[in-house]
Amino acid sequence: RVLAGRSLDLAGRHVVVSAGGTREAIDPVRFIGNRSSGLQGYALARTAAARGARVTLVAANVALPDPAGVAVVRVESALQLREAVLGAVEGADAVVMAAAVADFRPAARSDSKIKKTSAEPDAIHLVKNPDILAELGERRRDGAKPYPAVIAGFAAETDDVLANGRAKLARKGCDLLVVNQVGEGLAFGTPDNAAVVLLADAEPVEIPRGPKEALADVVWDLVAARLA
Ligand code: CTP
Ligand code: CA
Repeated sequence: RVLAGRSLDLAGRHVVVSAGGTREAIDPVRFIGNRSSGLQGYALARTAAARGARVTLVAANVALPDPAGVAVVRVESALQLREAVLGAVEGADAVVMAAAVADFRPAARSDSKIKKTSAEPDAIHLVKNPDILAELGERRRDGAKPYPAVIAGFAAETDDVLANGRAKLARKGCDLLVVNQVGEGLAFGTPDNAAVVLLADAEPVEIPRGPKEALADVVWDLVAARLA
């Protein structure tokens, strides 16, 4: 079955995509955030829907309209994103973690706005957030539901991109890791991306610079092949 030149190879599948970047509250008006625009995650959601999948999109702080035909769950923090993803992957076929999840959050959120005084400010004490992707990998390894059949992550690396990516793939226990080449105006907030997809059990797949939809389609090709 073909729709607009694309096969409906994900028909009957349920996929979960996370997108955007989490915000970790400091007080009612301030947060620690990151530069993720959500464009790559939204491209993944749109292309999966176009290929026939039922799509749940967990969106963290994204200023983009809901893609047509996609169930969108909006979250703010890493802890909320974890709850939403674990809720959504129950019975799902695949998860693609495209969201930039904050590694740390303030240990305590002030209920009142922190005021400027004549004294120097207090330091913000940070604690680790749970690693959602690694947790999904562990759950699958241990057979501890919920976890999906196929697990994919994203990573932005500098320096030794391949070595860092390979170590991360192993540490996270995922099937594929899309390693973005950061820099040269790519990735954050741009329509284009370039990446290499590292696979747990095959040679890397290079994706040349191009629209985020093209990268998304390669990711779904690889996911579909694993589901088949
Ligand atoms: N991720 C996650 N939960 C976290 C942090 C990251 O699920 N608390 C996911 C991201 O969505 C992404 C992948 O893990 O798919 C890799 O994120 P990255 O920040 O590159 O990896 P980290 O393990 O956090 O390592 P680093 O120290 O390089 O930030
Ligand atoms: Ca990180």
